[in-house]
Amino acid sequence: MLNEPVLKVSNLGKQYNDRWAVRDLNLTVRKGEIYGFLGRNGAGKTTTIRMIMNLIKPTRGEIQLFGIPKAKLGQDLFRRIGATIEYPGFYPNLTAWENLYYNAKMFSINEARINEVLSFMGLSDTANRVVKGFSLGMRQRLGLARVLLHNPDFIILDEPTNGLDPAGIKEIRETIKRLNYEHNITILVSSHILPEVEQMASRVGIIHNGTLVEELTLAEIHQQGNTFLELKVNDTNKAMDVMKKRLGIEKFDQLDNGMLHVFGQLDKPELINRTLIQADIDVSHIVLRQETLEDHFMSITGGEE
Ligand SMILES: Nc1ncnc2c1ncn2[C@@H]1O[C@H](COP(=O)(O)OP(=O)(O)OP(=O)(O)O)[C@@H](O)[C@H]1O
Ligand SMILES: [Mg+2]
Repeated sequence: MLNEPVLKVSNLGKQYNDRWAVRDLNLTVRKGEIYGFLGRNGAGKTTTIRMIMNLIKPTRGEIQLFGIPKAKLGQDLFRRIGATIEYPGFYPNLTAWENLYYNAKMFSINEARINEVLSFMGLSDTANRVVKGFSLGMRQRLGLARVLLHNPDFIILDEPTNGLDPAGIKEIRETIKRLNYEHNITILVSSHILPEVEQMASRVGIIHNGTLVEELTLAEIHQQGNTFLELKVNDTNKAMDVMKKRLGIEKFDQLDNGMLHVFGQLDKPELINRTLIQADIDVSHIVLRQETLEDHFMSITGGEE
């Protein structure tokens, strides 16, 4: 059944000393989706994933997978799920093929499958090279190959594009989409890179200071996203004052990068421009914009660290 939850996390918390790395976290990943788990460095993404994969014990809360409490899942946890956490580790002196062989043995997977996943990840030519000499991009791809080895229904990828160049990032992103569309694998992918999530996820959960602040579809973000005029002027305070007094505009956002977002008189950018120039204010940039995931994310997680 589509929409049925593959992962349900309720009131999850992890305390280290007297600090909560994750607190009261609730999230749901539904069958068939690519769920973008978005948060700044230190937000609690890896800690959450470690708890899901049984690598650390939650201080409190519950985790259900495929509608079953995690504790009752037994070996199915590893049979039905594949995960990479932070940087994938390998035996450096073994070849790519040998590294996967080691994992295949553990799950009684036949050797043909090793070649299949290597080929899927574009690593056929490098199968017999030792991992020691692999670039970061090749390691990330080999990490994904290993995750796929046992044909999981659900994969969890913790920052799979960490350290990659733009071409490598695009390649991994396309692979993730293919796994979802062509192989019907449900995917939770964590990231702190907004455009990346925006280009591949169907739904996004934003984690901030250990807790989930918001969960919404990209369509919702785009729909509810406000439209505004983005301006760059030489005197922001004076510009706001002029727009307030002469044009009756009340709402502004002043950004750290010197940009000013104006919410009002959006159908008359030329009037705003002329009014500012007449008031002796230099306008070097004026454009009508729709709020993006990045604007939305910054408005939620910006400010205090
Ligand atoms: N073993 C640990 N002992 C103490 N504190 C920890 C431990 N592991 C994580 N933390 C703290 O928990 C918080 C969340 O860390 P976590 O690694 O989950 O963040 P993250 O979202 O994965 O960040 P990043 O994007 O940098 O990978 C951080 O403040 C971190 O310092
Ligand atoms: Mg992390």
